[in-house]
Amino acid sequence: MTEQHEQWDIVSSVGFTALLVAAGRAVETCRDDRLVDDPWAQRFVAAAQPPSVVPVRPGETWAVDDPDPGIRSEIDGFWTMMATYQGVRSRFFDDALGRAVAAGVDQVVLLAAGLDARALRLQWGPGVTVYEVDQAGVLEFKDEVVDSHDGRPTCDRRAVGVDLRDDWVSALRARGFDPSRPTAWLAEGLLPFLPALAQEQLLCAIDELSAPGSTIAAEHFADAIGMMSGRRSLAVLVAPFGVQFPSLISSEQRPPAARRLAELGWDVTSADSPGVARGYGRDLGGLPDGMEFSSDLVTATKS
Ligand SMILES: C[S@@+](CC[C@H](N)C(=O)[O-])C[C@H]1O[C@@H](n2cnc3c(N)ncnc32)[C@H](O)[C@@H]1O
Repeated sequence: MTEQHEQWDIVSSVGFTALLVAAGRAVETCRDDRLVDDPWAQRFVAAAQPPSVVPVRPGETWAVDDPDPGIRSEIDGFWTMMATYQGVRSRFFDDALGRAVAAGVDQVVLLAAGLDARALRLQWGPGVTVYEVDQAGVLEFKDEVVDSHDGRPTCDRRAVGVDLRDDWVSALRARGFDPSRPTAWLAEGLLPFLPALAQEQLLCAIDELSAPGSTIAAEHFADAIGMMSGRRSLAVLVAPFGVQFPSLISSEQRPPAARRLAELGWDVTSADSPGVARGYGRDLGGLPDGMEFSSDLVTATKS
């Protein structure tokens, strides 16, 4: 029997994190030197009507409930870096998916798609199917906003409303996923939220479902809990929304995704996000003391 998991929507629990990263992409989209152009991001934030202001333009500040102006300014610095990071990460994964499709992959699975608008904003070319997997409430909100703006996918977009701790493989196959064809998988902003066993099962399932020529791109945090528990951190930013960020993240030890994929026989490359940012002409450094942020952006191919 399937275990009953907590459900969430776009302004609660983990769902809110999808809105937060969309806000980061909205900020990035406003920049002259933007790395991604995501007009949907701002629409999603506007439609969600979060209970307090979420900055969607460069220079907009967070209404942090702290009397110390120094802390408020450091929190704004952290958010500015986070928004830049969303631009860097989105562009990195756009590029990875683009390479997979250019190599002939025509089946894409966005795991924990959230408010990822790639099915609408990227040019996929003919015959590409993009599956978006996330909790049903998140995808329903997304569909409503897309429909209200008469959004037209640039691919065959198929929503798969399921919890990734449940039997998501059957749900994906029921929507037409074909494991005999190579697949480009994406796990962006997902792994820290999964318990260690769910991450292991996810990576093993991906491996089993991946025909030769498949690719995966994933984001890995070595110490997500440590990064989120500081006084000046994402946890502070989202607390006014009633979202307790550290409680959403699994503290269970697990092997790095890159190592696990290599053990499963994938050809893996891993780059730290500050280095990736520098490659795009951006800087993720300069955070005040006490603020921490680092991640690895992983890509892998199955031969
Ligand atoms: C930080 S957001 C990232 C969304 C998207 N990948 C992006 O980068 O814009 C995290 C997403 O993971 C989804 N998520 C987390 N745990 C999940 C689970 N067990 N099953 C399905 N979705 C999950 C949330 O609903 C949310 O949309």
